[in-house]
Amino acid sequence: ILLLIISWLTPKITSLPPESQVLDRSSFPEDFVFGTAISAFQSEGATSEGGKSPTIWDYFSHTFPERTNMQNGDVATDFYHRYKDDIKLMKELNMDAFRFSISWARLIPSGKVKDGVNKEGVQFYKALIDELIANGIQPSVTLYHWDHPQALEDEYGGFLNPQIIEDFRNFARVCFENFGDKVKMWTTINEPYVISVAGYDTGNKAVGRCTKWVNSRCQAGDSAIEPYIVSHHLLLCHAAAVQEFRNCNKTLPDDKIGIVLSPWWLEPYDSTSSADKEAVERGLAVEVDWHLNPVIYGNYPEKMKKHVGHRLPAFTLEQSKMLINSSDFIGINYYSARFTAHIPHIDPTRPRFRTDQHFEKRVTNRSNHEIGPGDDRGIMHSYPEGLRRVLNYIKDKYNNPIVYIKENGINDYDDGTKSRETILKDTFRISYHQDHLKQLHKAIIEDGCDVRGYYVWSLFDNFEWEHGYSTRFGMYYVDYENNLQRYPKDSVNWFKKFLSKPVVKSEETED
Ligand code: NOJ
Repeated sequence: ILLLIISWLTPKITSLPPESQVLDRSSFPEDFVFGTAISAFQSEGATSEGGKSPTIWDYFSHTFPERTNMQNGDVATDFYHRYKDDIKLMKELNMDAFRFSISWARLIPSGKVKDGVNKEGVQFYKALIDELIANGIQPSVTLYHWDHPQALEDEYGGFLNPQIIEDFRNFARVCFENFGDKVKMWTTINEPYVISVAGYDTGNKAVGRCTKWVNSRCQAGDSAIEPYIVSHHLLLCHAAAVQEFRNCNKTLPDDKIGIVLSPWWLEPYDSTSSADKEAVERGLAVEVDWHLNPVIYGNYPEKMKKHVGHRLPAFTLEQSKMLINSSDFIGINYYSARFTAHIPHIDPTRPRFRTDQHFEKRVTNRSNHEIGPGDDRGIMHSYPEGLRRVLNYIKDKYNNPIVYIKENGINDYDDGTKSRETILKDTFRISYHQDHLKQLHKAIIEDGCDVRGYYVWSLFDNFEWEHGYSTRFGMYYVDYENNLQRYPKDSVNWFKKFLSKPVVKSEETED
């Protein structure tokens, strides 16, 4: 009888429309990885302990405190001292993996290997990696999450100078030689677009350079060239690190390395306008292809060559060879989307919105219609369909590469008036993840996108760059007033449940 009931029920269950299926871990492929993510500067603190030198973010936040909400990373969440307790939290969450970054300044304080590697730095990251593994959590290590030693900036202008490529290569080699026997998943550069545009065009992030100041505010200028130079060097740093990785005999046989990009999805402002649709294509060339085309095909996308012209550097044949297929997987940080409209008449005296986003304007609402819930205090507008679309865009254009979602998450603004209890009730965060996981599931199951993992940004609230601690991305609340105590938000319980179901092997995958 039981067998009869099962055979009667099975076709009904499997034919349910995906919307009505309740997702959990077992809805995803067997080896799919769930993790959380942080970065060194945003979380470690201990900024002048353990032999670490100042990074560009130490310098930026201390020299221009008004540009980081009068806050800095001196203490941050004190992950440097509390990592063991924080790993317990990850474990309770049933997470498989943890993404963190290595502080170049903690490992090689002058930035240059010839000046020596800091033993305390090596010990710290070794202990962290061991502790993760002992707790059954896979480490996923990022080499560069925006915090190189200030010394390199002072000496030769950091990423504006090609000298950085050799220094980065050496830093990467030290990482692979010291940690490569335990780490299977590496990422090179986190969000090159943000580094170049926010650091060298809009100027809102370190190193805070701006192409055009108008009434003491930074406006993107028409002659912007630095972001292209910086991105060029970032891509070559990536390629040099990958070369070291592939030549290193200390790394593990089945390990992987990739770059991490941060595309916003774009929708046409007027869905019937072909000009707006073209603006979307130009915009996506900047959001996605600027940094993806080089690491797969060894060259910049044609659309950018056309619009940026002589300001876009060119790769030599040798550099291009180094770049082709230099990413074993593509890391994607997806947060949100914008409407994009074509701007018909360009007034050359009028500053453009950001680095040559090619005669287009980007907004989050059109005729009072928001692209998704969010607000104007920097709270992300939730547009989960954008995740599925960006994954399909990559699949179609780049022959379905392996992708990991290396960050996805949402913030809430804390102006000091909300009680802790209010912030802990983060229903909006639960919906955000639920909705994005649904779209991700469709991208994998219905569209065949080869996505292998999903990391939540972030495990706990931390230093959110120019916003300091005023906006909270964590699943755990950090009480900055009270000994940095961590408190689980409701999303912690939601994820715990979502991840608790043991993976059931299907018959096909067993043989
Ligand atoms: C992307 C960055 O990698 C991370 O550092 C940042 O905190 C999150 N996005 C949220 O803005």
